[in-house]
This record gives sequence, structure tokens and C-alpha cells, in this order.
Amino acid sequence: MIVDQGYETMEGASGDDWISVAQSMRAYLRFSLLGGIISKQIRRLGYKAKAHTVLDGEVLQPPLLLLSGLGEVSRIGEVILNPFLGPRLKSGVVTTDLPLAHDRPIDFGLQKFCESCNKCARECPSGAITAGPKLMFNGYEIWKSDSQKCATYRITTEGGAMCGRCMKTCPWNLEGLFAEKPFRWAAMNMPSAAPALAKLDDVAGRGGLNPVKKWWWDIELDESGGYHAAKVPANARDLQRDLDLKYEDQTLAVYPANLAPHPWPYPFPMDREAGISAYENLISAKDHRAKSEAGETAHVHKYSGDGTSPVVRVNVSKVENLTADITKYEFTALDESDLPEWSAGAHLDVVVAPEFLRQYSMSGHPIDRKRYQIAVLREDEGRGGSALMHRIFSEGRKVFVSQPINHFPLDETASKTFLMGGGIGITPMVAMAHELHGLGADFQLHYSVPTRAAAGFLEDIQGFEWSENLRLHISDEDTRADLANIFTEPGKDTHVYACGPDAFMSAVVDAAQGAGVPEDNCHIEYFSTPDVPEYENHDFTLKLMKSGREVIVPADKSGTDALADAGIQVPVKCSDGICGVCSCGIVSGEVEHRDFVLSNRERQTKMILCQSRAADPDGVIEIDL
Ligand code: SF4
Ligand code: SF4
Ligand code: FES
Repeated sequence: MIVDQGYETMEGASGDDWISVAQSMRAYLRFSLLGGIISKQIRRLGYKAKAHTVLDGEVLQPPLLLLSGLGEVSRIGEVILNPFLGPRLKSGVVTTDLPLAHDRPIDFGLQKFCESCNKCARECPSGAITAGPKLMFNGYEIWKSDSQKCATYRITTEGGAMCGRCMKTCPWNLEGLFAEKPFRWAAMNMPSAAPALAKLDDVAGRGGLNPVKKWWWDIELDESGGYHAAKVPANARDLQRDLDLKYEDQTLAVYPANLAPHPWPYPFPMDREAGISAYENLISAKDHRAKSEAGETAHVHKYSGDGTSPVVRVNVSKVENLTADITKYEFTALDESDLPEWSAGAHLDVVVAPEFLRQYSMSGHPIDRKRYQIAVLREDEGRGGSALMHRIFSEGRKVFVSQPINHFPLDETASKTFLMGGGIGITPMVAMAHELHGLGADFQLHYSVPTRAAAGFLEDIQGFEWSENLRLHISDEDTRADLANIFTEPGKDTHVYACGPDAFMSAVVDAAQGAGVPEDNCHIEYFSTPDVPEYENHDFTLKLMKSGREVIVPADKSGTDALADAGIQVPVKCSDGICGVCSCGIVSGEVEHRDFVLSNRERQTKMILCQSRAADPDGVIEIDL
């Protein structure tokens, strides 16, 4: 079944604003309702039936839409275009064992039309849609789009959510069955008219913004409970008719089966460099057929994952509040069997929610294979992961955690070991103490906390066999660790491990090295690393090769903005370093590349002006403009 998203609202929207996503979701919901009613009715008739909705679907829909004659594949990529709705649709499926006859696939001339039109490619803000030919991808002949660019744009656009500009701007996004009947007839029956029709649609400004149709306000609810103008204005993109998008200027990546993410609910780092080469290696349907007929197999993409899951599904078996803001969690296998092995210093990546993957050090006993243990400090001013975990991780909940990962291993050959835990940084130290005690090794565990009430692990530690190795330091009881006198007379095999706030770890390392502990024997564990590099902006200069002009780019402006201020227009679409339309050639100068589009090879000769900057403060980059 296909559901019309509605022409009128789309006409007033930009396609990548907030109303567009609401419109898409409304169509999905509409199918959920209709599909639910249809399947219920089929079940009443005595047959099996299931509605596959956006939230609970087991059917890959595009091939089914093609086979059932609901549309043809379009330049947009995996979007099936219907002759009456264009791409402005959402699909849903009901599977049943009720005997049914089905329609045949249709051909209404779209392949020819899309060959003469690349409006969606030109208007796509992320540059995801190819302006080039159809190629073979995973066994299908398709205008393969760069889904990584599209997804990145849809997830990160601040002035809206998701995107549907390709749907909105396509000439087939037609209003009614009758009003545009002549256009539809000509497009379907006169393939040679396709270039003229596509041009006509563009000249008429169809697909542009139409404020007359805008019936909603772009306001948002803020913390005070009031509605205000949105902090980031909603995207209001009009047509970019002057943009001459060329296939040879596009950098596209694809992720065929051999590069596809594993099927587990766990992050999979996309290898864009490999994706770009995979695009370059795509071949035409004709070549594909010839290779297959010659018995070759190298061109066939096969999923190459080895089937090992990086995650384990576990049961939250125990939740214990250690302090007002520290909670200890234990996880067991769903069938109570042994969990994968681990060693002291390891951490787990915990999938708190799909958007919150968090690392927590393991604090249990490494020989205990029945349970994993972590302790989590609730950071109300943090990024939300720990607070959410405190709220939703209750006993009996089934969650995903990674296999244990150890970047902080213990040197078991040490002659003496100092374990230094500051606050919640005690967690890996407890596991290390268990392991060292088991080895009969010489160690001290120093536990530093601001108040006794904050020493969440104190009670546990006092119950362990090695509790006499504990040295407790409580700031407000004046027993703060005297770091200068802890590491007395260290030997060359003395090792120091520190975990806690950055200042604590630096102080420990300084004191240990000051006392003579070799640098290589001082080990620290960071709780988090930034997801994206923290760039610092500096002023720099863009020198234009053709005119010799120099344009200063201040620290608070992008290269494209500074050029626009100087009267030099460079095409811009995403402004985020994704689409690639603002790229230019580098003549000289060192560039700090901050884009997500170019390959390493292209970066040697090109730069993305909306994001990348000079590598050094006050650097000069000469570009081929
Ligand atoms: S970014 Fe927008 S216009 Fe481009 S392919 Fe994705 S949904 Fe379509
Ligand atoms: S905009 Fe043009 S090229 Fe893109 S899907 Fe529509 S008809 Fe095809
Ligand atoms: S405008 Fe898209 S990469 Fe610069």
C-alpha cells in the first residue's frame, strides 16, 4: 500500500524543515492504522495477516513495490516513484496467506525521464544523489545514492529534522489526478519530450518555496514552557537553478554488502574511504552481465562479516544505590550461562539507548564469569547517558553490552603496584585489586573522595579479603592523599594506575614520576574521549589564483562566508562539509581538512571551503578561483 504524504503542505515546505518530517511521519502512522485494520479484517476472515509498519517491519519494501506495479525506481535511489504521486509517498505492507492475485510491474517511462533530469540531485542539500548513470549495486541496476551523506544530513540538520527535498522538488510531485494530466501523459508517452518537460518544470519554478501555502508557525517549546521563535531558523531553501551539478565533481560513497554494517545494535564505524573506492568500482549492468556470463565472481558483493557479535544481550540482574548519585549495576547472561572472559582494567560499552553508547569500567571480580559489574555516577549536567541509565536500567531489563574491551591492562609482573582511584575512578581499581590479590602481588589501593558519603565502594571493599590494602583519603576529614609521600622508593618494576578526574590523574602521574616511577609504568584511564576532534578556529587568508586577491577569513567565519562577504559567490548547499559543492582546488598552502566528503587522494588537491581552514594560525591557502 502507498500513502500520499499530501501535496499542499509539501508545497509550502522546503522539504528539509520540521513540517516535512511531521508530514512523513503522519503518512507512516496512517499506514500503521490502515494496515492494522486491514490485517485484523483478514484475520477475521480466518487467514493469517501481519501489518509491517515503520516501527515493526520485516519486509524490504522497495522490491515489493516494484514487483507489485506501484512504481518505478528513480534517480533518487531506493525511492520508488509512483506515476500519480511522484516520490511523495510512504509505503506499508500487509503479509498474509489469503490467496491474492497481484498486479504486474509497470513501466511508465520514468527511466528515460530521470536520464534527462537531475533536479533531485541538484536540489539534494547533502549532495547524496548521483548526477551520473545507473550502476550495479548488490545485484540491482540503480541510480545509487550516497546514503551516508543523506543520513548524516538528516540526522544533523539543525533547522529541521530529516529531509525530503528530493520528493518535494521532483517534477513528478504532481497535485492531482486531472489538473496535470497533460504533463503526465506527455511524460509517459513521449520519451523524447522528457528533457523539455524537465526544463519546463524548472523554469516554472515548481518545487520552490510557496509561502502562500504555509499554514504553520516555526515556533518551539522552550524550557520555560513557552512557545518562541526557533533558536535556529527552520531551513527555508529555495531552488538552486544556477547550480550546474556535474557528475565528475561529485564524490560519492556506497556501502555494498561487503562493506555493510553488522546486524547488531552496536555502532559500526563506516569506512568512507572504502565506500568511495567501492563507488568508483561500480560497473554498468552490461559489464556486470558480461562478467557473470564469463564465470567471473569478483564483481558480486557478498556480506563478509564473520558472524561474531560485538555485543552480548544481558539481563540487568542487580541495581544497588551506593550513594545518592552512584549506582552499581550487575548483568548476567539471559540463560545464566558464563559470560565472555575479561581481565582487570576492562570496560564495557553499554547501549543505554540507541543514541547513548557509554563506556564504564568493570568493577567486579575477573574470575566471576557469571556476572559483569559496573558502577555509574549520575551526571545531571552531562550529555544525558548516565542520567538516562539511572532512570531506566531497572532489575529485569534486557540490555546490550559490548564484549569486554581492555585498553588499561594490568602488568602482572610488577614488583609493587599502586592503584589510585579518584571518586568513581575507583571502579577499575577494584577489579585490579581482586586480580592482584589472587596473584599474591604487593599492592596498595588508594581511594580518594571528597566526603565519606561519596565513598560508594567503601562498604564493598571492607568486605573483601584484601581490605587491609585500602588507604582511604577523605578531603573533608583532612586525610587527603599526600601524593608526595606515597610512592616512596619505587623500584624499576613499580607500576602506578590512576583513574578519576583529569586533575587527579595528572597530580598522581606528576607525583609518581617525581618520586622516580618510570614514565612507562604510569598508566591512566580516560573516561571519555571526544567523538569529533575539537578544532580551534584561527584567522587565515584565502588567496585567489586568478585575480591575486586576498580574503581574510576571520576565526568566527567560514571560508565560503568570508568569500561571499567579499562579493565572491561559491555554491553552498549543506554548509557542513558533506555535499562537496563548495570544493575548490588547492594551489598552495597547508589545509586542515574538516570535511566528510573528500577521499584522502582528493584532499591532496582539493579543499571544502565551507568547513576546512588553514592548518596554522594566519596561514595562507592559495586556491584555484
Ligand atoms: S539529503 Fe534530502 S534530498 Fe538528499 S537524498 Fe536525502 S532526503 Fe533526498
Ligand atoms: S527529480 Fe528528476 S531525476 Fe529526480 S527522480 Fe524526479 S524526475 Fe527523476
Ligand atoms: S556546502 Fe556542502 S560541503 Fe560545503
